[in-house]
Amino acid sequence: MTGRMAGKVALVTGGASGIGMACCVRFADEGARVVVADLNLERASSVSDQIMASGGDSISVAVDTSVPEEVEAMAAAAVDTYGTIDACVAAAGISHADYVSREPDEQASEDRFDRHDMMLIDKSLASWQRVIDVNLTGVMLTNQSVAKAMSESGGGAIVNIASVAGKTALMGASDYCVSKAGVWMLTKCGAIELARYGIRVNAVGPGYIKTSMSGAATSNESWVEERIKETPLRRLGEPSDIANACLYLCSDEASFVTGEIIFPDGGLIADSRS
Ligand SMILES: NC(=O)c1ccc[n+]([C@@H]2O[C@H](COP(=O)([O-])OP(=O)(O)OC[C@H]3O[C@@H](n4cnc5c(N)ncnc54)[C@H](O)[C@@H]3O)[C@@H](O)[C@H]2O)c1
Repeated sequence: MTGRMAGKVALVTGGASGIGMACCVRFADEGARVVVADLNLERASSVSDQIMASGGDSISVAVDTSVPEEVEAMAAAAVDTYGTIDACVAAAGISHADYVSREPDEQASEDRFDRHDMMLIDKSLASWQRVIDVNLTGVMLTNQSVAKAMSESGGGAIVNIASVAGKTALMGASDYCVSKAGVWMLTKCGAIELARYGIRVNAVGPGYIKTSMSGAATSNESWVEERIKETPLRRLGEPSDIANACLYLCSDEASFVTGEIIFPDGGLIADSRS
């Protein structure tokens, strides 16, 4: 088998859509056996089917990454099927508490950040908690479960999906921004703690990427024009732009890279990265 992930087993949370799905397909193209883990089993299974139809090997697993037992069962399913986990991309995430990932042609138009109840002063504890549970605690639980499996087989590579929103404050998205800033710090803590097991932990902080999550906004032409204007490379990102960064960090080409973050954002926050 050839490819930059040849012989490796990759587990991707949020693998049924957008960035996670792009990682599943890209990693499979590079020879990985792929565990597609997602809240939405139907969509995850169709990603696995797509990989198998192209001659790859894949299973799909249902998981809510905010539930510890489900995350443990997800890692166990990967090990039961493939014997190990070599690479993990923790991409499962939500933009706000009511967000539901959809097919591109059924994006809800009410996905907006300027709703009154999203502002800090009116935000409910329950909606704050849900975003932290999925975006931050879910990534921590994923890191913990896959690290246990990786530590038993000599190491591995973990990539956590953060965001430019972990660096830049966004109106109406305090929970999201805090969760993503937390993912970046979790990544650095994981890197120094897990190095002894041969596990590298890095993060990727996407800019504006065309997925279900940005779907309602990207259907608004003036919003897109504004975002393109503030992005030095003058375009929105594709899920493949993020998958390529994840592929590098999970591959042996990055064998001396840990505790790092890459921002594939077209230069959006070039001024405020540190
Ligand atoms: N799209 C962007 O512009 C952008 C920018 C920066 C960061 N991100 C981050 O990238 C990641 C992927 O987002 P996307 O844009 O591909 O969105 P998406 O909605 O297309 O994909 C997210 C996937 O995560 C799954 N998911 C949600 N909650 C889950 C849970 N509790 N357990 C398991 N799976 C769950 C969804 O079912 C979906 O398949 C997220 O962490 C997001 O915050 C996205």
